[in-house]
Amino acid sequence: MIAETFKNSARILSGAVIAEAIKAEVAEEVRRLEKNYGFRPALTVVRVGEDQASAVYVGNKVKTSAELGIISEHRHLPLETSPAELLQIVEELNNRADIDGILVQLPLPKQIDESAILQKIDPEKDVDGFHPVNVGRLSQGQKSLVPCTPAGVIEILKRSNIEIAGKHAVIVGRSNIVGKPLAMLLLQENATVTICHSRTTNLAAMTSQADILIAAIGRAGLVRGEHIKQGATVIDVGINNVSDVELARELFDESELEKRLATIEKRGFTLVGDVNPKEAKAKAANFTPVPGGVGLLTVAMLMKNTVDAAKMRRKLN
Ligand code: GUN
Repeated sequence: MIAETFKNSARILSGAVIAEAIKAEVAEEVRRLEKNYGFRPALTVVRVGEDQASAVYVGNKVKTSAELGIISEHRHLPLETSPAELLQIVEELNNRADIDGILVQLPLPKQIDESAILQKIDPEKDVDGFHPVNVGRLSQGQKSLVPCTPAGVIEILKRSNIEIAGKHAVIVGRSNIVGKPLAMLLLQENATVTICHSRTTNLAAMTSQADILIAAIGRAGLVRGEHIKQGATVIDVGINNVSDVELARELFDESELEKRLATIEKRGFTLVGDVNPKEAKAKAANFTPVPGGVGLLTVAMLMKNTVDAAKMRRKLN
Protein backbone atom coordinates (compact mmCIF):
# COMPACT_ATOMS: atom_id res chain seq x y z
CA MET A 1 0.00 0.00 0.00
CA ILE A 2 2.76 2.42 0.99
CA ALA A 3 4.65 1.70 -2.19
CA GLU A 4 1.44 2.37 -4.13
CA THR A 5 0.92 5.67 -2.33
CA PHE A 6 4.39 6.88 -3.28
CA LYS A 7 4.39 5.46 -6.78
CA ASN A 8 6.00 7.87 -9.24
CA SER A 9 6.05 10.63 -6.68
CA ALA A 10 9.56 11.89 -7.35
CA ARG A 11 10.08 15.37 -8.74
CA ILE A 12 12.21 14.96 -11.88
CA LEU A 13 15.12 17.42 -11.85
CA SER A 14 15.67 18.47 -15.46
CA GLY A 15 19.31 18.94 -16.36
CA ALA A 16 18.23 20.66 -19.56
CA VAL A 17 16.54 23.60 -17.83
CA ILE A 18 19.44 24.15 -15.42
CA ALA A 19 22.11 23.72 -18.12
CA GLU A 20 20.34 26.31 -20.31
CA ALA A 21 20.28 28.79 -17.43
CA ILE A 22 24.02 28.33 -16.79
CA LYS A 23 24.87 28.58 -20.48
CA ALA A 24 22.87 31.83 -20.77
CA GLU A 25 24.86 33.25 -17.82
CA VAL A 26 28.15 32.16 -19.42
CA ALA A 27 27.20 33.70 -22.80
CA GLU A 28 26.38 36.97 -21.02
CA GLU A 29 29.75 36.91 -19.26
CA VAL A 30 31.55 36.25 -22.58
CA ARG A 31 29.81 39.30 -24.09
CA ARG A 32 30.83 41.40 -21.07
CA LEU A 33 34.48 40.31 -21.34
CA GLU A 34 34.59 41.11 -25.04
CA LYS A 35 32.94 44.50 -24.57
CA ASN A 36 34.98 45.59 -21.54
CA TYR A 37 38.32 43.89 -22.15
CA GLY A 38 38.35 43.09 -25.88
CA PHE A 39 38.85 39.32 -25.74
CA ARG A 40 36.84 36.12 -25.90
CA PRO A 41 37.83 33.04 -23.83
CA ALA A 42 39.40 30.22 -25.85
CA LEU A 43 39.31 26.46 -25.30
CA THR A 44 41.29 23.67 -26.97
CA VAL A 45 39.97 20.12 -26.76
CA VAL A 46 42.46 17.37 -27.59
CA ARG A 47 41.13 13.97 -28.62
CA VAL A 48 43.32 10.98 -29.41
CA GLY A 49 42.01 7.98 -31.34
CA GLU A 50 38.52 6.94 -32.38
CA ASP A 51 36.55 6.29 -29.19
CA GLN A 52 32.95 6.85 -30.33
CA ALA A 53 31.60 8.21 -27.04
CA SER A 54 34.54 10.65 -26.84
CA ALA A 55 33.80 11.84 -30.39
CA VAL A 56 30.22 12.68 -29.34
CA TYR A 57 31.31 14.40 -26.09
CA VAL A 58 33.99 16.46 -27.84
CA GLY A 59 31.55 17.40 -30.61
CA ASN A 60 29.15 18.73 -27.93
CA LYS A 61 31.93 20.72 -26.26
CA VAL A 62 32.99 22.40 -29.51
CA LYS A 63 29.39 23.09 -30.59
CA THR A 64 28.41 24.55 -27.21
CA SER A 65 31.53 26.75 -27.18
CA ALA A 66 30.48 28.26 -30.49
CA GLU A 67 26.93 28.85 -29.24
CA LEU A 68 28.22 30.82 -26.24
CA GLY A 69 30.83 32.87 -28.09
CA ILE A 70 33.80 30.93 -26.71
CA ILE A 71 36.59 30.36 -29.24
CA SER A 72 37.27 26.64 -29.56
CA GLU A 73 39.77 24.44 -31.30
CA HIS A 74 39.54 20.67 -31.71
CA ARG A 75 42.87 18.84 -32.08
CA HIS A 76 42.18 15.29 -33.21
CA LEU A 77 45.26 13.07 -33.11
CA PRO A 78 45.69 9.55 -34.53
CA LEU A 79 45.28 6.47 -32.33
CA GLU A 80 49.01 5.69 -32.55
CA THR A 81 50.10 9.09 -31.16
CA SER A 82 53.07 8.60 -28.83
CA PRO A 83 53.19 9.96 -25.25
CA ALA A 84 56.00 12.33 -26.34
CA GLU A 85 53.92 13.71 -29.24
CA LEU A 86 50.94 14.36 -26.97
CA LEU A 87 53.17 15.97 -24.35
CA GLN A 88 54.60 18.27 -26.98
CA ILE A 89 51.11 19.43 -27.94
CA VAL A 90 50.19 20.04 -24.30
CA GLU A 91 53.37 22.11 -23.86
CA GLU A 92 52.59 24.10 -26.99
CA LEU A 93 49.08 24.85 -25.67
CA ASN A 94 50.46 25.74 -22.22
CA ASN A 95 52.73 28.30 -23.91
CA ARG A 96 50.10 29.83 -26.18
CA ALA A 97 48.92 33.12 -24.70
CA ASP A 98 45.64 33.01 -26.65
CA ILE A 99 44.47 29.70 -25.12
CA ASP A 100 42.68 29.83 -21.75
CA GLY A 101 41.50 26.25 -21.34
CA ILE A 102 43.02 22.87 -22.25
CA LEU A 103 41.03 19.66 -22.08
CA VAL A 104 42.51 16.29 -23.00
CA GLN A 105 39.56 13.97 -23.52
CA LEU A 106 39.72 10.68 -21.62
CA PRO A 107 40.12 7.78 -22.09
CA LEU A 108 43.47 7.95 -23.88
CA PRO A 109 44.89 5.04 -25.94
CA LYS A 110 46.68 2.43 -23.86
CA GLN A 111 50.24 3.49 -24.78
CA ILE A 112 49.67 6.84 -23.01
CA ASP A 113 49.75 7.25 -19.20
CA GLU A 114 46.76 9.51 -18.49
CA SER A 115 47.99 10.83 -15.19
CA ALA A 116 51.41 11.74 -16.67
CA ILE A 117 49.64 13.86 -19.31
CA LEU A 118 47.18 15.50 -16.91
CA GLN A 119 50.07 16.57 -14.68
CA LYS A 120 51.67 18.45 -17.58
CA ILE A 121 48.67 20.70 -18.24
CA ASP A 122 49.19 24.21 -16.84
CA PRO A 123 46.98 24.21 -13.68
CA GLU A 124 45.72 27.70 -14.61
CA LYS A 125 44.38 26.27 -17.92
CA ASP A 126 43.18 22.96 -16.47
CA VAL A 127 39.44 23.36 -17.17
CA ASP A 128 38.86 19.71 -16.17
CA GLY A 129 40.20 20.41 -12.67
CA PHE A 130 42.19 17.14 -12.78
CA HIS A 131 45.69 18.53 -12.14
CA PRO A 132 47.05 17.68 -8.66
CA VAL A 133 47.40 21.40 -7.91
CA ASN A 134 43.69 21.94 -8.51
CA VAL A 135 42.81 18.75 -6.61
CA GLY A 136 44.87 20.07 -3.67
CA ARG A 137 43.33 23.53 -3.84
CA LEU A 138 39.83 22.02 -3.89
CA SER A 139 40.56 19.80 -0.89
CA GLN A 140 41.82 22.82 1.06
CA GLY A 141 38.81 24.94 0.12
CA GLN A 142 40.87 27.36 -1.99
CA LYS A 143 39.70 28.90 -5.26
CA SER A 144 40.35 26.36 -8.01
CA LEU A 145 39.12 24.97 -11.29
CA VAL A 146 36.64 22.28 -10.22
CA PRO A 147 35.87 19.06 -12.16
CA CYS A 148 32.83 19.70 -14.34
CA THR A 149 30.52 16.80 -13.47
CA PRO A 150 30.75 17.22 -9.65
CA ALA A 151 30.35 20.99 -10.08
CA GLY A 152 27.22 20.25 -12.14
CA VAL A 153 25.79 18.07 -9.36
CA ILE A 154 26.16 20.95 -6.89
CA GLU A 155 24.45 23.33 -9.34
CA ILE A 156 21.51 20.94 -9.74
CA LEU A 157 21.07 20.70 -5.96
CA LYS A 158 21.37 24.45 -5.36
CA ARG A 159 19.21 25.57 -8.27
CA SER A 160 16.52 23.03 -7.27
CA ASN A 161 16.54 24.49 -3.72
CA ILE A 162 17.63 21.21 -2.15
CA GLU A 163 19.31 21.89 1.16
CA ILE A 164 22.84 20.48 1.50
CA ALA A 165 24.12 21.88 4.81
CA GLY A 166 23.69 19.42 7.66
CA LYS A 167 22.38 16.68 5.36
CA HIS A 168 23.91 13.24 4.95
CA ALA A 169 25.24 12.85 1.40
CA VAL A 170 26.25 9.33 0.38
CA ILE A 171 28.29 8.94 -2.82
CA VAL A 172 28.56 5.56 -4.50
CA GLY A 173 31.84 5.63 -6.46
CA ARG A 174 35.31 6.93 -5.65
CA SER A 175 36.68 8.03 -9.02
CA ASN A 176 39.02 10.98 -9.40
CA ILE A 177 36.62 12.47 -11.96
CA VAL A 178 33.41 12.34 -9.89
CA GLY A 179 33.30 10.62 -6.49
CA LYS A 180 36.33 12.15 -4.76
CA PRO A 181 35.97 15.76 -5.95
CA LEU A 182 32.21 15.64 -5.30
CA ALA A 183 32.91 14.60 -1.69
CA MET A 184 35.09 17.70 -1.29
CA LEU A 185 32.46 20.00 -2.79
CA LEU A 186 29.70 18.57 -0.58
CA LEU A 187 31.92 18.97 2.48
CA GLN A 188 32.45 22.58 1.52
CA GLU A 189 28.67 22.95 1.45
CA ASN A 190 28.60 21.55 4.99
CA ALA A 191 27.08 18.14 4.23
CA THR A 192 28.10 15.06 6.19
CA VAL A 193 29.70 12.90 3.51
CA THR A 194 30.10 9.13 3.13
CA ILE A 195 31.85 7.56 0.13
CA CYS A 196 30.92 3.98 -0.77
CA HIS A 197 32.58 1.88 -3.46
CA SER A 198 32.85 -1.59 -4.96
CA ARG A 199 34.35 -3.03 -1.75
CA THR A 200 31.79 -1.51 0.62
CA THR A 201 30.05 -4.26 2.60
CA ASN A 202 26.27 -3.92 2.88
CA LEU A 203 25.87 -1.04 0.48
CA ALA A 204 22.13 -0.70 1.13
CA ALA A 205 22.72 -0.14 4.88
CA MET A 206 24.91 2.85 3.97
CA THR A 207 22.94 4.34 1.09
CA SER A 208 19.57 4.05 2.84
CA GLN A 209 20.81 6.62 5.36
CA ALA A 210 21.32 9.21 2.65
CA ASP A 211 19.32 12.40 2.42
CA ILE A 212 21.21 12.98 -0.82
CA LEU A 213 22.31 9.84 -2.66
CA ILE A 214 24.69 10.16 -5.60
CA ALA A 215 25.39 7.19 -7.84
CA ALA A 216 28.62 7.37 -9.88
CA ILE A 217 29.92 3.83 -10.13
CA GLY A 218 29.27 2.86 -13.76
CA ARG A 219 26.88 -0.09 -13.24
CA ALA A 220 23.51 0.12 -14.96
CA GLY A 221 20.62 0.18 -12.49
CA LEU A 222 22.75 -0.87 -9.49
CA VAL A 223 20.94 1.46 -7.07
CA ARG A 224 17.49 0.03 -6.37
CA GLY A 225 14.56 0.80 -4.11
CA GLU A 226 16.19 -0.95 -1.14
CA HIS A 227 19.15 1.46 -1.35
CA ILE A 228 16.99 4.58 -1.16
CA LYS A 229 15.51 6.27 1.90
CA GLN A 230 11.90 7.37 1.39
CA GLY A 231 11.93 11.05 0.38
CA ALA A 232 15.65 11.20 -0.48
CA THR A 233 17.17 13.16 -3.34
CA VAL A 234 18.77 10.77 -5.82
CA ILE A 235 21.34 12.09 -8.31
CA ASP A 236 22.29 9.66 -11.07
CA VAL A 237 25.70 10.36 -12.63
CA GLY A 238 25.99 7.05 -14.49
CA ILE A 239 25.88 6.72 -18.26
CA ASN A 240 25.71 3.08 -19.39
CA ASN A 241 24.69 1.47 -22.68
CA VAL A 242 22.02 -1.19 -22.14
CA SER A 243 21.14 -3.54 -24.98
CA ASP A 244 19.48 -6.26 -22.86
CA VAL A 245 15.72 -6.08 -23.35
CA GLU A 246 15.03 -7.97 -20.09
CA LEU A 247 17.11 -5.48 -18.11
CA ALA A 248 15.27 -2.61 -19.80
CA ARG A 249 11.97 -4.16 -18.64
CA GLU A 250 13.24 -4.13 -15.05
CA LEU A 251 14.34 -0.51 -15.26
CA PHE A 252 11.50 1.34 -16.96
CA ASP A 253 7.82 1.74 -16.21
CA GLU A 254 5.04 1.71 -18.81
CA SER A 255 5.42 5.42 -19.50
CA GLU A 256 8.92 4.91 -20.88
CA LEU A 257 9.43 1.26 -21.73
CA GLU A 258 8.06 1.31 -25.25
CA LYS A 259 10.31 4.21 -26.26
CA ARG A 260 13.35 2.52 -24.72
CA LEU A 261 12.70 -0.79 -26.46
CA ALA A 262 12.34 1.08 -29.76
CA THR A 263 15.70 2.77 -29.13
CA ILE A 264 17.38 -0.58 -28.46
CA GLU A 265 15.85 -1.91 -31.67
CA LYS A 266 17.05 1.07 -33.68
CA ARG A 267 20.46 1.90 -32.16
CA GLY A 268 21.33 -1.36 -30.44
CA PHE A 269 21.32 0.19 -26.95
CA THR A 270 19.64 2.74 -24.70
CA LEU A 271 21.33 5.08 -22.19
CA VAL A 272 20.80 4.06 -18.58
CA GLY A 273 22.16 5.50 -15.34
CA ASP A 274 23.45 3.73 -12.23
CA VAL A 275 20.00 3.97 -10.63
CA ASN A 276 16.90 1.87 -11.36
CA PRO A 277 14.59 4.73 -12.43
CA LYS A 278 11.34 2.84 -11.87
CA GLU A 279 12.22 2.13 -8.24
CA ALA A 280 13.83 5.52 -7.60
CA LYS A 281 10.74 7.36 -8.81
CA ALA A 282 8.63 5.37 -6.36
CA LYS A 283 10.78 6.21 -3.33
CA ALA A 284 12.74 9.40 -3.88
CA ALA A 285 11.44 12.94 -3.51
CA ASN A 286 13.78 14.22 -6.23
CA PHE A 287 15.46 12.32 -9.04
CA THR A 288 17.67 13.19 -12.03
CA PRO A 289 16.88 11.30 -15.25
CA VAL A 290 19.36 9.65 -17.63
CA PRO A 291 19.64 10.98 -20.26
CA GLY A 292 18.61 14.57 -19.56
CA GLY A 293 20.06 14.97 -16.07
CA VAL A 294 23.61 15.49 -14.80
CA GLY A 295 25.21 14.78 -18.21
CA LEU A 296 23.91 18.04 -19.65
CA LEU A 297 25.48 19.99 -16.81
CA THR A 298 28.99 18.70 -17.52
CA VAL A 299 29.35 20.69 -20.75
CA ALA A 300 27.74 23.78 -19.21
CA MET A 301 30.25 23.69 -16.32
CA LEU A 302 33.14 23.24 -18.76
CA MET A 303 32.06 26.45 -20.45
CA LYS A 304 31.91 28.19 -17.08
CA ASN A 305 35.38 26.86 -16.16
CA THR A 306 36.79 28.18 -19.45
CA VAL A 307 35.47 31.66 -18.68
CA ASP A 308 36.71 31.41 -15.07
CA ALA A 309 40.18 30.32 -16.27
CA ALA A 310 40.29 33.23 -18.75
CA LYS A 311 39.43 35.67 -15.96
CA MET A 312 41.81 34.15 -13.40
CA ARG A 313 44.74 34.25 -15.85
CA ARG A 314 44.09 37.96 -16.44
CA LYS A 315 43.31 38.66 -12.78
CA LEU A 316 39.83 39.93 -13.67
CA ASN A 317 36.72 39.68 -11.50
N1 GUN B 1 35.82 11.54 -20.32
C1 GUN B 1 34.64 11.36 -19.67
N2 GUN B 1 34.37 12.40 -18.86
C2 GUN B 1 35.40 13.27 -19.01
C3 GUN B 1 35.69 14.54 -18.44
O1 GUN B 1 34.95 15.10 -17.62
N3 GUN B 1 36.86 15.12 -18.86
C4 GUN B 1 37.69 14.53 -19.75
N4 GUN B 1 38.80 15.17 -20.07
N5 GUN B 1 37.44 13.35 -20.29
C5 GUN B 1 36.30 12.73 -19.92
